[in-house]
Amino acid sequence: MAATLFLRNSLLHNHPLSKSFSASPYSSKPHSYSIKAAKMLGSEITEEEETNVNEKKKVFVAGATGSTGKRIVDQLLAKGFEVKAGVRDLEKAKSILPDNPALQIVKADVTEGATKLAEVIGDDADAVICATGFRPSWDLLAPWKVDNFGTVNLVEACRKLGVNRFILISSILVNGAAMGQILNPAYIFLNVFGLTLIAKLQAEQYIRKSGINYTIIRPGGLRNDPPRGNIVMEPEDTLYEGSISRDQVAEVAAEALVIQESSYKVVEIVSRIEAPKRSFEDLFGCIKQQ
Ligand SMILES: NC(=O)c1ccc[n+]([C@@H]2O[C@H](COP(=O)([O-])OP(=O)(O)OC[C@H]3O[C@@H](n4cnc5c(N)ncnc54)[C@H](OP(=O)(O)O)[C@@H]3O)[C@@H](O)[C@H]2O)c1
Repeated sequence: MAATLFLRNSLLHNHPLSKSFSASPYSSKPHSYSIKAAKMLGSEITEEEETNVNEKKKVFVAGATGSTGKRIVDQLLAKGFEVKAGVRDLEKAKSILPDNPALQIVKADVTEGATKLAEVIGDDADAVICATGFRPSWDLLAPWKVDNFGTVNLVEACRKLGVNRFILISSILVNGAAMGQILNPAYIFLNVFGLTLIAKLQAEQYIRKSGINYTIIRPGGLRNDPPRGNIVMEPEDTLYEGSISRDQVAEVAAEALVIQESSYKVVEIVSRIEAPKRSFEDLFGCIKQQ
């Protein structure tokens, strides 16, 4: 019995499937594969019954107490992921986030540097989702500290840890100047307060050069109300107006982990009543990698 268990464990540990996943690296269900366990009979090893091994992927969410971040946590849990929620205030987080055995809440301020973030993210994370955004204050540098340096710190932490999947919630119009939208009131407004869009754009560029498999999601104006209309997904530097429910943004972020076509892409999303309903495979599949 002990030998069977030992062999089973060592086979599981060393089996090529134990570290790689055939279809999508992030399947939408709790991740499972089956493997034949071995049984020792005298000096012979024979195959025993098939054993199902469930392995949940763990995702670190930065900004998990935010209006979008908490929805991302909910979506990930619903899809069977394990979630590590990075938050600044543990008490606040406990009052906002669900009580779920697959959820761990940890303190993480993205301005505190990559080394500290790497310790918090830990060596068992498979992906990081960044849903942070500066909180308005008298500190005019806050957008740079959070939306630029903070995101860069997260990317660096991923590099230290070997985490090779990064999802960023950014914004439409980050590249407004290049799109001829320099006089767009939203572009002006968001940059007047601490060059927020420029800070985000530079963080995006850092991710894109990092070598990490990224999906940068640029939503239009965020709404708390439930979805009205279907998701419209366009390539980078396309949309300059429109809004979307935070529920839909969270869904896109969680789906990006599941759908391989989301890799190395920047997508812009809004919702429109008249838009046809499309699958996430189709939405992501229609966006070209740059
Ligand atoms: N509002 C819009 O219409 C709009 C449109 C397009 C894109 N976006 C972008 O979408 C993202 C999500 O927006 P949202 O309105 O849902 O966010 P939000 O509710 O403002 O939440 C922001 C989150 O960032 C966290 N945060 C702030 N500073 C941090 C730091 N130093 N370290 C760690 N976490 C920090 C906050 O933590 P605390 O809870 O502790 O404060 C909070 O969890 C943001 O990047 C935003 O810029 C927004």
